[in-house]
Amino acid sequence: MKKNPVVAVVGATGAVGREMLDTLLRRNFPHSEVRALASSRSAGTTVEFGSKKLTVQELTEDSFKGVDLALFSAGGSTSEKFAPCAAKAGCVVVDNSSAWRMDPAVPLVVPEVNPDDLSWHKGIIANPNCSTIQMVVVLKPLHDAARIKRVVVSTYQAVSGTGQKAIVELESQVRQLFNGQEAECKVYPHRIAFNCLPQIDVFLDNEYTKEEMKMVLETKKIMGDDSIRVTATTVRVPVFYGHSESVNIETEKKLTSKEARAILSQAPGVRVFDNPGEKIYPMPIVAAGEDDTFVGRIREDESIDNGLNMFVVADNIRKGAALNAVQIAEVLLQRDLLRVP
Ligand code: A2P
Repeated sequence: MKKNPVVAVVGATGAVGREMLDTLLRRNFPHSEVRALASSRSAGTTVEFGSKKLTVQELTEDSFKGVDLALFSAGGSTSEKFAPCAAKAGCVVVDNSSAWRMDPAVPLVVPEVNPDDLSWHKGIIANPNCSTIQMVVVLKPLHDAARIKRVVVSTYQAVSGTGQKAIVELESQVRQLFNGQEAECKVYPHRIAFNCLPQIDVFLDNEYTKEEMKMVLETKKIMGDDSIRVTATTVRVPVFYGHSESVNIETEKKLTSKEARAILSQAPGVRVFDNPGEKIYPMPIVAAGEDDTFVGRIREDESIDNGLNMFVVADNIRKGAALNAVQIAEVLLQRDLLRVP
């Protein structure tokens, strides 16, 4: 591509959309124009883009004329309807929803893990689930070194993963409870303030939630290895930004905790934050507002021969969503793949 691309952010008024705009600027993503798109509800309002204000336009089927790249974060049904229109108009879509992730014709990409999958895109590229992204950036280098046979993961996920309305719900429930009022639940089925919900997304026939099965299926697709067994329990916790995960892995080859630390300290996008004696370990307040995925509490699982436990935390809006999408766009640009074949 000779000229700088015209970029559209779909869902520009949302928690992830706003971060996408910030990330484009922060990383100096080349652009000749940036358009902010959202629903008719916010058409005509403005969103900040550095020192500029962008006027939000209503998303329609005609929104993609002359647009080279669209970053979507406006929910699955919006992506299902509009991503094909965009690709048809010659615009490459990086979609943050779950709509296209398991489509065999759509690459599901974490740039530190499987950037080469971008070479076969047909106009739509899927950005994985937030909790999967931060897990696979840590798993990949360990898998390359020792082949992971099984992963057992439990998550502690922030409300921002549900969107702006959930951030507002946690804030207002805390205020209501401190004022002796009843907490009003609109977004989640139960109170989220001072509580933990072992339900993220809907329950499926196999008794797992959709979020749990995303972690299972997306991990295999991104790692390009169906033989890795994954089981997940995903929990929403009253944290605003930053998903945490307790990750247990069983490997074919033994890795000591020291070896794992050495491997991970060389891994792109990973920051080893692991000095328990000094009370240094990953936490949401450490990872929020950062690009890296933090890993710590690395220790050998004494209940099996070749096992490791670790605690992995990342900013779910950054690496879990907006940053990963912009990094995908950066690779597309570097490899001259920002076109619909
Ligand atoms: P709007 O603000 O106009 O509703 P979040 O995940 O933080 O809730 O944000 C969701 C984003 O997706 C918002 O920008 C929202 O726009 C946008 N969105 C939701 N539904 C649609 C739709 N049908 N068409 C376009 N944008 C939509």
